[in-house]
Amino acid sequence: MADATGKGLEGVVAAQTRISDVDGQHGRLWYAGYEIGDLAAHASFEETVYLLHHLELPTEAELAETAATLRAESNLDPLLVELIASLAERTGPMTALRTAVSAAAATDPDDDSDEANLRKAYRLIAKTPQMIATYQRLRTGADAIEPRDDLGIAANFLYALTGKQPDPQVARDFDVVLVLYADHTLNASTFAGRVAAATLADMYAAVTAAVATLQGPLHGGAIEEVREMLEEIGSPDRAPDWVREHLAAGQKVMGFGHRVYKTWDPRATVLREIAERLGKQFGDTRWYDTSVRVQETVMEAKPLYPNVDFYTASVYSALGLPPDLYTPLFAAARMAGWTAHIREQYADNRLIRPDSEYVGPEPRPWKPLEARG
Ligand SMILES: CC(C)(COP(=O)(O)OP(=O)(O)OC[C@H]1O[C@@H](n2cnc3c(N)ncnc32)[C@H](O)[C@@H]1OP(=O)(O)O)[C@@H](O)C(=O)NCCC(=O)NCCS
Repeated sequence: MADATGKGLEGVVAAQTRISDVDGQHGRLWYAGYEIGDLAAHASFEETVYLLHHLELPTEAELAETAATLRAESNLDPLLVELIASLAERTGPMTALRTAVSAAAATDPDDDSDEANLRKAYRLIAKTPQMIATYQRLRTGADAIEPRDDLGIAANFLYALTGKQPDPQVARDFDVVLVLYADHTLNASTFAGRVAAATLADMYAAVTAAVATLQGPLHGGAIEEVREMLEEIGSPDRAPDWVREHLAAGQKVMGFGHRVYKTWDPRATVLREIAERLGKQFGDTRWYDTSVRVQETVMEAKPLYPNVDFYTASVYSALGLPPDLYTPLFAAARMAGWTAHIREQYADNRLIRPDSEYVGPEPRPWKPLEARG
């Protein structure tokens, strides 16, 4: 039957936003008018958080205040540490993160005013990386590490994960990854967050919907799948045959294709450079080299480009991060955009309630139980 809606809502404008914009034909992305390449070159994640929430770059004083607030909010309430400890023994990090984000509502003293929602947003942005690091420490039998006062969000995450102060360039590379992932218009998880917010569900409920939606392999889950693919391929020379066989069998190559971009995703070009540099720095370019061969072979065979997740797998592999933390780290960065979109939804709200086209049975008479065969 003809699909009157356009399956997957492709091309449907479902919200107005001032937060970010994409030009999929030309491979461009802006946060509040600032090009993603400029932000990756110059902005810290803290600066990006401020930009997404205020739609202006911060002054020096505003940036210092934002960074101080985010640092002060990064400690986890004992309730969350206990919860994460229990979950770490029984479930994976995405389920743990979704549950911890939801439970964090119980530790938040604020009401639902816009000022309070900005404070909640900063709490969520500050705490999410620490939830992930705490989960990883506890599941490996190590003690949780409190964040340091003198480090930004990116460096503090790496510190809380390993107990060692990261190399400044490595911390900056991770900071850039957070900047690149911070927002991306009305992607599936952001849309889910805005739908929840539009019912006037609170910030934590809306963000929980967003985290849940991120999990799937067609969205945030793709980074981990790319890593699995690279592992399965094993070495750069095996990539061409592997890719050709998979495409010939009608299978998708994870990390390629995008609903909006029909050319290079501008984030993927930055991530490719970071993957190469980190591979060289840590003396293992296998992930990067294999990715390049996969990319070349896919692009020879089909009009497909790598998306943001493709080279992120190599970046995180070079950093030695466990693969099942890749999608949670996507959530940590996107928390900036989700919370900004949720506040934007509250500020000019109308319930989001689309129609459906009924394609089921025609109206028919009630059939008693004994007549149903
Ligand atoms: C991102 C994605 C879900 C977009 O989906 P979409 O807009 O619904 O696009 P479609 O799945 O309809 O793809 C359109 C065509 O490109 C092909 N295609 C899309 N992504 C592909 C991929 N990764 N590998 C091989 N072929 C792909 C589809 O098979 C389809 O071909 P057809 O017209 O011959 O049937 C899709 O590209 C995908 O599944 N990619 C892999 C997962 C991924 O990397 N997700 C992270 C996104 S940031």
